[in-house]
Amino acid sequence: MAKPTKQLFDKAKGILSEIESAEVKDKDALEKFRIQYLGSKGIIKKFFSSIKEVDPSDRKAYGQLVNDIKAKAEAKHQSSLQQPETGSSRSEDIDLSLPAEPHPLGSRHPIAIMNKKIIDIFKRIGFIVEEGPEIENDWYNFTALNIPKDHPARDMQDTFFIQRNPDILLRTHTSNTQIRVMENSKPPIRIICPGRVYRNETVDAGHHTTFHQIEGLYVDENVSFADLKQTLYFFAQKIFGKETKMRLRPSYFPFTEPSAEMDIICLICKGKGCSVCKQTGWVEILGCGMVDPAVLDNCKIDSNKYTGYAFGLGIERIVMLKYRINDIRLFFENDIRFLKQFKSAF
Ligand code: FA5
Repeated sequence: MAKPTKQLFDKAKGILSEIESAEVKDKDALEKFRIQYLGSKGIIKKFFSSIKEVDPSDRKAYGQLVNDIKAKAEAKHQSSLQQPETGSSRSEDIDLSLPAEPHPLGSRHPIAIMNKKIIDIFKRIGFIVEEGPEIENDWYNFTALNIPKDHPARDMQDTFFIQRNPDILLRTHTSNTQIRVMENSKPPIRIICPGRVYRNETVDAGHHTTFHQIEGLYVDENVSFADLKQTLYFFAQKIFGKETKMRLRPSYFPFTEPSAEMDIICLICKGKGCSVCKQTGWVEILGCGMVDPAVLDNCKIDSNKYTGYAFGLGIERIVMLKYRINDIRLFFENDIRFLKQFKSAF
């Protein structure tokens, strides 16, 4: 082998072992490696140009060697690209014994919390929980409750009807459940029926199209309006405290006679008048009355032997009053800044 050719072979072999032993630790080193060996002005390019300087009889072997150098450099570059960075903090500095970062816990919705609180109060005085369907038919939502078709009282609760079958609707109140229970059981009956209800109403600070009620029903011999009043005052004092002003005001419901509504002094404006109490100083929280004998008869309960009282309260209104919330829409927006304030409430 001629002297210059030998020198070129030796140089090429030196570069090959240099590439094999090169340590490419991080991104910067990898880029440096690429430029040094594989770049357009890199070492390998120069080796290819030097082929013509080699003695023709050794050219094939030399070309083979230069190809090997190129293949080794490319393979090293490729495998280093795919490796996670070494020498950085990633793998070595993770301490698996450290406690994990805490994930913030969710909390129960204020309506759910109040729902449970009200149920607990009534359970303590002997009521049991019954549930009914939200998609209801005309009989249970209206007719059995003494509201026949074309009765003007139907306008009291704007209704979402199912277009293809007007007999099916979204229940406008939880009173549907008292009928379902009375049809299937005998007195004494003492139930509360919590649930979601729907009304085709204009939404404002105190009204929503979707809200929650709890119905109460007590049917037995000799149940009187005094029993109803005592039960409602017991409940309202447990929620709002003994000092809070409350009143029962005569009202009208087709399914109770006599009927009343219970108001609580508006705790948001302290009775002065605001958008929630519609400037009246009072907020209505429930409707109630003595079950109309016609309703008992509709459910095959002997109205000569039994009497009963019923009431239906709105949960949103109660939470609003208790926690001075001035807009019912806040309950449905799921804003975490609003919801997290109730974590330790109630
Ligand atoms: C009724 O729904 C009757 N079923 C209640 C009843 C039951 C009376 C048994 C007699 C015997 P009313 O439409 O007034 O009544 O609604 C009852 C309560 O639901 C109201 O006092 C109020 O607290 C709440 N409420 C009514 N409409 C809305 C609304 N759009 N948004 C939020 N809460 C409402």
